[in-house]
Amino acid sequence: MTLNDIIALDKKYFMNTFGDRLPVCFVRGKGMKLWDTNGKEYNDFLAGIAVSALGHSHPALVNAIVEQAQKFIHCSNYYYIESQAKLAQLIVENSCCDRVFFANSGAEANEGAIKLARLYFRKKGQPEKFEIITLEKSFHGRTLATLAATGQDKYQKNYSPLTPKFLSVPNNDIKALEEAISEYTCAVMLEPIQGESGVNPTNVDYIRQVRELCNRKGILLIFDEVQCGLGRTGKLFAYEHYGVEPDIFTLAKALGGGFPIGALCAKEPYASAFAPGDHGSTFGGNPLACNTAFAVLSTIINDNLSKNSAVMGDYFMEKLSQLKDKWPFIKEVRGKGLMIGVELTVPKAVEVKKKCLDAGYLIGSVGENIIRMLPPLIITREDIDGFITALDKIMSEL
Ligand SMILES: Cc1ncc(COP(=O)(O)O)c(C=O)c1O
Repeated sequence: MTLNDIIALDKKYFMNTFGDRLPVCFVRGKGMKLWDTNGKEYNDFLAGIAVSALGHSHPALVNAIVEQAQKFIHCSNYYYIESQAKLAQLIVENSCCDRVFFANSGAEANEGAIKLARLYFRKKGQPEKFEIITLEKSFHGRTLATLAATGQDKYQKNYSPLTPKFLSVPNNDIKALEEAISEYTCAVMLEPIQGESGVNPTNVDYIRQVRELCNRKGILLIFDEVQCGLGRTGKLFAYEHYGVEPDIFTLAKALGGGFPIGALCAKEPYASAFAPGDHGSTFGGNPLACNTAFAVLSTIINDNLSKNSAVMGDYFMEKLSQLKDKWPFIKEVRGKGLMIGVELTVPKAVEVKKKCLDAGYLIGSVGENIIRMLPPLIITREDIDGFITALDKIMSEL
């Protein structure tokens, strides 16, 4: 099919949730690269929004899918699943959590976290504790509960009344958080580095104060590591940057390297609040998803891709900072590891994104002023150099 045929079908039959997409359709990928219907080559600096951590068609990922698909794909959670048990073990042995539950997406993993926090207090005899405090500019998903948790009006405004009981407070403001905590609060939920609002890192001191506050108030701390987890920020888990451990954290995106899977990860005694029948999923944790995610996570760990993310992230930030010194309309370069945002003083983020696409580079934009880069964790210096040269040229044309 030609690109125009595909666009015509999409416009006629697909619900218009994504508006006018960029006019490209990919047919093949390998490593950092993708090719479109016209054979044009692109360097992927977005990785499907922090998903394709191993790049495209990584042999470990492809083999895991093929190997499991040839055996069987699905059997339901009525039975024991070897890859599910092994993936849970791999996550537990490499993180601060004691138990894991598998869902199909980030939003679903967060739904699980919300349910678990509420249930923990209900089972402790405190059913009134069901409120969750989140941060402004956060993003936790598109289901009704995670939408209510998301601290951004633009996602919520058409869906009121929102699911109770969520409230958002300003980021990096411990006093505002403390004042918001009441006898109804069961948890604080936050992204250590906010992704969807344009890469906004949370202060180290603030996160430590939040941990201390949650301990003092006897409430749970949930980290949404759906975007910032799994090596993205230069450590396997973002919480490692802060010297604190969450009681519950969630993963998705990179976990399956492109295959849908999410994980709800919790310490004891919180994890055990889920008893048989309290939560479930038809597809969540199925053999294909878990065999794939096991291969992806093993590769991230064994190939030390978190380290590559840290080293390449520093290099990338340094190069972008040089561009900032050169081009006055670059206001700020921020992020950690390979989760990078560049804020412009001018509303040209979409234009820059489109020019990058023309130049064969995929990046993201947030609002009118921020461009966002979330490349695969396998990225090299040469990849970054190529992008910087292209971006420099684009900046010179702005
Ligand atoms: C921090 C965070 N949490 C949750 C989600 C929702 O994940 P999903 O789209 O897989 O439901 C996202 C997606 O962008 C995210 O960035």
